Amino acid sequence: MEARFSILFSSFYYKKALKSGLWLVWLCGIFLICVSFYATLLLPKKQKVFYDGPKITLYTAPRAFTGLIGERQTLAVRSWLGLSENIDVVLFSQDPSVFSLGESLGSRVLVEPNIDFTFLGTPFFHSMVARSLASSSDVSVLVDPDTIILSDFVSTLNYAHKLDEDWLLIAATQNISHFPFHLDSSGRRWLTDDGKHIGIKKLQEFLSQRSCGKLFGEGMIIAWNNGDLPLHKGILPPFLYGKGLHNQWLVTEAMNSDFRLVIDASSTISSFYLHDLHQESCILSRSWELNGNSLLGMLYGSFSFRKANYSGVLMLFEYGGHYLFVNKNQHIAYKPGYKRSLNLWKKGVSLSPMEEEKQGCLDSIKSLEETEGRLANEQSRLWNPITLSFSLENLLSIRADQNKTIVLGVAGYSYKDMLMSWVCRLRHLQLSNFLVCALDTEIYEFSIMQGLPVIKFLNPPTNISFDDCHFGTECFQKVTKVKSRMVLQILKLGYNVLLSDVDVYWFENPLPYLRSFGPAVLVVQSDEYNTAGPINLPRRLNSGFYYSHSDTITIKALEKVVKHAANSNFSEQPSFYDTLCGEGGSNRLDDNQCVEPETNLLVHFLNRDLFPNGAYGGLWEEKDIKNICTDKGCLILHNNWISGRKKKLERQVLSGLWDYDINTRMCLQTWQRSDIPGYF
Ligand SMILES: *[C@@H]1O[C@H](CO)[C@@H](O)[C@H](O)[C@H]1NC(C)=O
Ligand SMILES: *[C@@H]1O[C@H](CO)[C@@H](O)[C@H](O)[C@H]1NC(C)=O
Ligand SMILES: *[C@@H]1O[C@H](CO)[C@@H](O)[C@H](O)[C@H]1NC(C)=O
Ligand SMILES: *[C@@H]1O[C@H](CO)[C@@H](O)[C@H](O)[C@H]1NC(C)=O
Ligand SMILES: *[C@@H]1O[C@H](CO)[C@@H](O)[C@H](O)[C@H]1NC(C)=O
Repeated sequence: MEARFSILFSSFYYKKALKSGLWLVWLCGIFLICVSFYATLLLPKKQKVFYDGPKITLYTAPRAFTGLIGERQTLAVRSWLGLSENIDVVLFSQDPSVFSLGESLGSRVLVEPNIDFTFLGTPFFHSMVARSLASSSDVSVLVDPDTIILSDFVSTLNYAHKLDEDWLLIAATQNISHFPFHLDSSGRRWLTDDGKHIGIKKLQEFLSQRSCGKLFGEGMIIAWNNGDLPLHKGILPPFLYGKGLHNQWLVTEAMNSDFRLVIDASSTISSFYLHDLHQESCILSRSWELNGNSLLGMLYGSFSFRKANYSGVLMLFEYGGHYLFVNKNQHIAYKPGYKRSLNLWKKGVSLSPMEEEKQGCLDSIKSLEETEGRLANEQSRLWNPITLSFSLENLLSIRADQNKTIVLGVAGYSYKDMLMSWVCRLRHLQLSNFLVCALDTEIYEFSIMQGLPVIKFLNPPTNISFDDCHFGTECFQKVTKVKSRMVLQILKLGYNVLLSDVDVYWFENPLPYLRSFGPAVLVVQSDEYNTAGPINLPRRLNSGFYYSHSDTITIKALEKVVKHAANSNFSEQPSFYDTLCGEGGSNRLDDNQCVEPETNLLVHFLNRDLFPNGAYGGLWEEKDIKNICTDKGCLILHNNWISGRKKKLERQVLSGLWDYDINTRMCLQTWQRSDIPGYF
């Protein structure tokens, strides 16, 4: 409209100008130029949508979004989203409050529950990093959930993205007590109390006056480009997130591995958190978690506690709109151009007075000393044994489902990978009411490190050595007797127990079916290998998978089994059969049931099409066990009827009925095996 009007307007004057002089033509022209200039001013704002900087994804594991912690985390996440349209956020959590917050913040926030968590809900750092590495984002960033980030972060990453190297960038975060500005509703601008906009320079000034001490540690920001080179050599240990050391470990290993350029951008990235909150989170961490991380730091990689040393890292500075690298050791500044190789940087120029000033500031960053002090403390704590401070009663009340049912897995150290695959499978089926009974100290500590709810069987009856404790051995006989004693103890505490050996693969959750038999029935797997005929013949009871209801009849009957087993020279399996079904099967009722005459306990042998043992139907010889079993409607499949730990493990891993990555110590997740068809 405006333009058309101006044309009419100008043509009117043009006629007049023919008479009155050419100067009016000029006036008119200037007017048109003004109109078009105004129009071009409007354009860049619209074009911002198509801004083509790197795609950046921030990863964090927030706590529940409630109270003050929730408010701070919300502010932090909004501050990230407001930095650029190119920023996405992934929140690792299984908490409902995080899901609802994620929804309210829009499509750029994703909540990812499919990584490994401890049973208390603490995420595993190695699993978070693996998930980040699997992303297609140009730049991945790990950040604490309450760290507020300012806009110089984006310009720094844009700069780094243009470097011709793969890099890992770290930035220390500042600890302040008060931040008097508010984020506006768009999340893009910081405002004063009276609504005035505060620019980045003013914010940087404010932060630099508040504290002299940016700290590396739990709060540090770690970013890397999606490049060809790995971050570090070796394997990231299963550190617990937010319990110390994992960031230092990652950075130290990245430097030692020398794959990537490690950049310290503490000076060009402004970020901070409010410290009252931080202290609260420290109280929440448990000593065994810190101990666990310390121990892992020692066991894996070249990380050594006294040598956390960031002094070899190139520091990045911004000066007069240009970026500049400073080598802290050699007091040399580098001015790398874009698309130039690292080698050229070695032509260092000496520091100008202004840059010397920056060097002074750099020295005040206390990272090294602080970190070393912390690490030495960690080390002194190492010698405390790792224990979980929960009693059996505590664990049961935390873990049991609403019907007071617990799934009990019993394992010794030689079955640790089997145990983990079993646990990963249960997690995949979204079952959380399981508990692990540890037969030895090694598996007990291993389980704690893997975040499992574990209870140590006091007085393990024997020395459970690595390879020799399989079916038929004396060790095996003794170990299996632990299981019934443990089950009895839990039944007496008022909980129903599904005992499952860890070599039982679960296709589906069998509990609804097993529960349907009601009280005073012991529901057991049959070990019968003949396809036809009765399934409850003598000694065909498999005591590696049974469901027992917590009632007086079941408890009395199981007491008889435990007593019988204690006086027997065999494993507890025959004791189960001989006590409940009678020697030679004298208490058999029909082809799949027995009744123990003294207690009236009914023993029901499970249909083998639903609960096949390792010999039934030659299932383990099939190539595509997973599909065949799914078609048949199997709920579980027992990996028994095979001798030797290694053969058993091999058979299960090769069959694909396996949910755990032995190398990285992580559950296999859908985002890792989306290429495998039929994974469910
Ligand atoms: C943050 O600052 C407060 C007060 O200055 C201090 O008490 C606290 O220990 C600091 N936290 C860290 C992690 O340095
Ligand atoms: C840190 O490493 C550098 C070499 O990168 C070395 O010169 C320096 O002595 C080390 N500092 C400490 C405290 O170990
Ligand atoms: C508890 O039992 C009821 C009735 O059998 C069932 O409907 C419900 O799903 C069970 N709860 C759980 C968590 O399994
Ligand atoms: C356990 O086994 C080891 C070696 O096989 C042996 O030296 C040790 O005495 C055994 N301990 C017990 C309590 O049997
Ligand atoms: C167990 O073995 C011991 C010695 O080998 C023997 O004396 C005892 O009678 C056996 N007990 C049973 C119940 O078979």
